Amino acid sequence: MKKILKWTGITLLSLVLLVLLASWILASKFNNKFEKVYDLQPAPVAIPTDSASVERGRMLAVGCTGCHGSDLGGKVFFDDPNIGVLPSSNLTRAAGSETEGYTDEDFVRAIRHAVNKKGHPLMVMPSESTGQMSDEDLGCVIAYLKSLPPIDRQFEKRHFTYMSQVMAGAGLFGNLSPYDIIEHDKVKNLTAPPISNSAEYGEYMVRVHGCKSCHNPNFGGGKSPDPVSPPVPDISTSGIAGNWTKEEFISFFKTGKTPDGRLLNSQFMPYEGLGALPAVEIESVYNYIQSMPPANQTGKKIAEK
Ligand code: HEC
Ligand code: HEC
Repeated sequence: MKKILKWTGITLLSLVLLVLLASWILASKFNNKFEKVYDLQPAPVAIPTDSASVERGRMLAVGCTGCHGSDLGGKVFFDDPNIGVLPSSNLTRAAGSETEGYTDEDFVRAIRHAVNKKGHPLMVMPSESTGQMSDEDLGCVIAYLKSLPPIDRQFEKRHFTYMSQVMAGAGLFGNLSPYDIIEHDKVKNLTAPPISNSAEYGEYMVRVHGCKSCHNPNFGGGKSPDPVSPPVPDISTSGIAGNWTKEEFISFFKTGKTPDGRLLNSQFMPYEGLGALPAVEIESVYNYIQSMPPANQTGKKIAEK
């Protein structure tokens, strides 16, 4: 009897140690990923100074406000006692702000490559999309950021509970490091098609706003990368939005309200970024979506025929 107890004890103890070791390995994997230092020299981008360019930058930067706060002074992007705290940086160069000492090159490194001034990879910052901006548009955004009045705001530093470090290490939160999915040698000297309602310009807008990272490359929708988000709808011509009129589509982006009267939450469907741009640019996205085949081949469009 004593022997059995002894061996049960040893087995249990080994199991506990094994679990502790495995969790420690996973947590370290997560932590080490974001403590790495990358020596990355981004290709230079010309920063304009004229007021029309700064205004263009202001419009483009509306897409950043959902995460960085309406005044771009940063906010707590995520705060859950079970998971931890992730602030999104203060983009004004107030004393003590993350971007206080940022040079033009530092901004390019962050917005295109998801790497901060110290060389650490950024978490969640969607540089795989923002980095697709043409040099001209990116130059306007940086010019605008540099024109912002400093906003002095303090928030908790980034930290995560041990359990969430383990879960993140096991990949349960998906990919938190945009650095890993960016083709770093390709995001330089980028151009955009001329601004118009063309499907080609629409494709550019879709890339910059990251529509496909949630709605999928064929616009068929599915699960959001954000675990607390509602499911992502099919917005191709086999879905509901793919059958809206151009006017309804533009109006949705301006107001967040669907033609059937639903007000969508901009936390899950970030409509304000595209919505801040002139109607012709929103229309280009409509035309691009219309030019694509229906995502769901057994869907409405087919049934109509
Ligand atoms: C989905 C949310 C989200 C959006 C949209 C977003 N960001 Fe970020 N951004 C973040 C988070 C979160 C961080 C901080 C990441 C970290 O601490 O690892 C960040 C960091 C940054 C940094 C680096 C600052 C530092 O900490 O050194 C810059 C610069 C930046 N963002 C600029 C922008 C610009 C410009 C836009 C719009 C074109 C934008 N971001 C859009 C979430 C976002
Ligand atoms: C962060 C993920 C995310 C991104 C990026 C995103 N969407 Fe969405 N979108 C959603 C979710 C989630 C919904 C559904 C929201 C709800 O039901 O409350 C949605 C809803 C919509 C709808 C309404 C569809 C309907 O049937 O009600 C349209 C249209 C749409 N998105 C178009 C776009 C376009 C165009 C872009 C790029 C400019 C884009 N979305 C970017 C997640 C996203």
